[in-house]
Amino acid sequence: MEDDEAQRKLLVAVLQADGWATFEASSGDAAIELLEKGGEIDIVLSDLMMPGMDGRGLLAVVNQRWPEVPFIVMTAFATVDSAVELLHAGAYHYLPKPTKLPELRITVRRALESTQTKRELARLRRKVGLPADVVGVSRQMQQIFETAIRVAPSSTTVLITGETGTGKEVVARAIHGASGRENFVALNCAALPPSLVESELFGFKRGAFTDANRDHAGLVEVADTGTLFLDEVAEVPLATQPKLLRFLQDGEFRRLGDNQSKKSAARVIAATNRDPAEEVAAGRMREDLYYRLNIVHIKIPPLRERPVDIPALAEQLVGRLADRYQLATAALTPEVVAALTAYAWPGNIRELENVLARALALRSGQSITLRDLPPEITRVAPAAAGIGLLEQEPTLPLDEVERRYILRVLESTLGNKLKAAEILGIDRSTLHRKLKQMQGIAALQL
Ligand SMILES: Nc1ncnc2c1ncn2[C@@H]1O[C@H](COP(=O)(O)OP(=O)(O)OP(=O)(O)O)[C@@H](O)[C@H]1O
Ligand SMILES: [Mg+2]
Repeated sequence: MEDDEAQRKLLVAVLQADGWATFEASSGDAAIELLEKGGEIDIVLSDLMMPGMDGRGLLAVVNQRWPEVPFIVMTAFATVDSAVELLHAGAYHYLPKPTKLPELRITVRRALESTQTKRELARLRRKVGLPADVVGVSRQMQQIFETAIRVAPSSTTVLITGETGTGKEVVARAIHGASGRENFVALNCAALPPSLVESELFGFKRGAFTDANRDHAGLVEVADTGTLFLDEVAEVPLATQPKLLRFLQDGEFRRLGDNQSKKSAARVIAATNRDPAEEVAAGRMREDLYYRLNIVHIKIPPLRERPVDIPALAEQLVGRLADRYQLATAALTPEVVAALTAYAWPGNIRELENVLARALALRSGQSITLRDLPPEITRVAPAAAGIGLLEQEPTLPLDEVERRYILRVLESTLGNKLKAAEILGIDRSTLHRKLKQMQGIAALQL
């Protein structure tokens, strides 16, 4: 929306040349009318100063009624304060006037990508009924979510494996959440001395051992008709495993010191960060227990095998951390997102969470920048980023691979073209020419 007609026509011409469908409005009210028509409006580009409802007013309305639509503000009366204020008020981006056209085009493209991702996520979530804070756009995570949702309503045992911090508990809780069962009881088998695992699980009768001066219900009983989450199931001692197996097979168990058996309808979800087949081979897990646990096996891949999940995860985690520590939330610069995406994350999502918590607390400015990240993350070799790229989308056209890879390398050198050209093995003028061809990219002022 722009009240100056010549300006508006120019913007429309530029955007149409890029293939976007555009709608024009000369006032805030006219813009709202267009949005109300329910057309396919994916972003709003608006001037700040206008007669009638100004850009700020329109921003407030759009945020409230069409929250998934990014709002880009353009204004000639740019001050840092007003920019910050607009971003706080929910603007997606802020462009000073006179607007640099390449910058405009990039901003529009990014904003559009962000809406599409948000819409896609919302659609999937509605489909599978997952809580809003469970993130995963990768093919692998989508498959996991589908399995989780399909298996949720039954009483089937589910085994979840994955490296530390990959989200095993998150998936377990998601299955429980979609199961319709009421209580969720968790036992971390690694947190107890082995001798106590059995009595914690199955309970004991008074007099069963020296300190047993009263009857005690185990967690299988407490969980009752709910979900029992057996975390670190590989730590269940060999001596207790036959009892666990029996419980999994027919729901029967005995409290320690009791000669009567009882029943519980608790559904077991088990997790481990070890390889259960290896545990069996090493004689630490009974084979029959392994087969019984392995009926539905969800393997959560490490974060480095699904780098496409990182941007959305990072954004979500920053918001959640800001809430938790009562800090203002912060945007991540594109360079930060690139660095986070290229890093290998041995500690997976938990490590990502810790890095972001630190950045949020220590940042010097409004957004989180490269300076707020630990050196091991900003030092990542760009070659790794290139490999990640092909793993995500193995069937890209060659020039698209080249375009993305050049951008990745540029991001990893923080825009240093000389260094980027060296890494790419081309001379600087070739890089310049390629950047020119890549429409508008040079305007990133990398
Ligand atoms: N899909 C996800 N979306 C959003 N946050 C996630 C997701 N998966 C994991 N997390 C976050 O990452 C952190 C680690 O997750 P979780 O505790 O489930 O991992 P884990 O595999 O059980 O780790 P460990 O092996 O150390 O027990 C948590 O803070 C969790 O909220
Ligand atoms: Mg865990």
